[in-house]
Amino acid sequence: MKEKQAMRSKKRADQYDDPKYNYLTYWNGRDYENAAEEMAIKRLLEGKHFRRAVDVGGGYGRLCVLLERYADKVTLAEPSQQQLDIAKDFLKDHPAVARKLMQANDLKFGDGSIDLVTMIRVMHHLPNPEAELAEISRILSDDGYAIIEVANYLHARNRLKYFLHGKKIPTEPVDIRSAANRRADEIAFVNHNPHTVIKQLAHAGLKVDRILSVSNLRSPGVKKVLPKSVMLAIEGILQPTLASSFFGPSVFFLVKKV
Ligand SMILES: C[S@@+](CC[C@H](N)C(=O)[O-])C[C@H]1O[C@@H](n2cnc3c(N)ncnc32)[C@H](O)[C@@H]1O
Repeated sequence: MKEKQAMRSKKRADQYDDPKYNYLTYWNGRDYENAAEEMAIKRLLEGKHFRRAVDVGGGYGRLCVLLERYADKVTLAEPSQQQLDIAKDFLKDHPAVARKLMQANDLKFGDGSIDLVTMIRVMHHLPNPEAELAEISRILSDDGYAIIEVANYLHARNRLKYFLHGKKIPTEPVDIRSAANRRADEIAFVNHNPHTVIKQLAHAGLKVDRILSVSNLRSPGVKKVLPKSVMLAIEGILQPTLASSFFGPSVFFLVKKV
């Protein structure tokens, strides 16, 4: 068991270093999703201010700019050097954001030294997030908050699909890679059952303070017929109202230390 844990924590997470892949371009045509995530973060952090924020697996710093509004000092903690290089340019007007090469299971910060941690769109690369959640809990101060985003396997469409097939939704993470990509050297891509994640958070000493259901209207069909402003107005209503039913494809957890 211990060996398995050690192997997991040694696993490198530099898959975003592939020179053929630029994560910046992933966001082309995804303005709605980007705005929906920013809306969720603003909602969860409204009225709060922090001394030190760390965006774990923050990529090229997409959300660090927003985090600067809520914290005196923001650090982008990211295991891919290529992402950090892109961040250098992306964050050129935000020189105060520190860029540090590090992986979520080995965060180079002291115990209780950070009062805001965000980890967005990273859990889908972590089939076994125990070590990473434990690290977040370790660096979080007693009065701090973390926002953990989870790619949600329990979303409404999946639930309907499973219901129609008379099957139960798994509690374990589900590998959503194509057959061709299901190789050990390929980055993991899983969707999680949020009920399991809540238990994993508790195991790491983190309790859920608030939940939001995010990107509720993520669908190419809806995007074709509804203007972004209308989608976001509806999203604003749905994020809190559909939270307890884990409706959307993405769930944002605001957590605190137990
Ligand atoms: C889909 S991107 C999301 C980037 C950023 N959080 C955002 O939302 O724009 C996933 C990021 O997670 C990082 N990542 C993958 N495995 C990781 C790990 N074990 N620890 C920390 N970051 C990881 C990748 O390098 C990549 O930058």
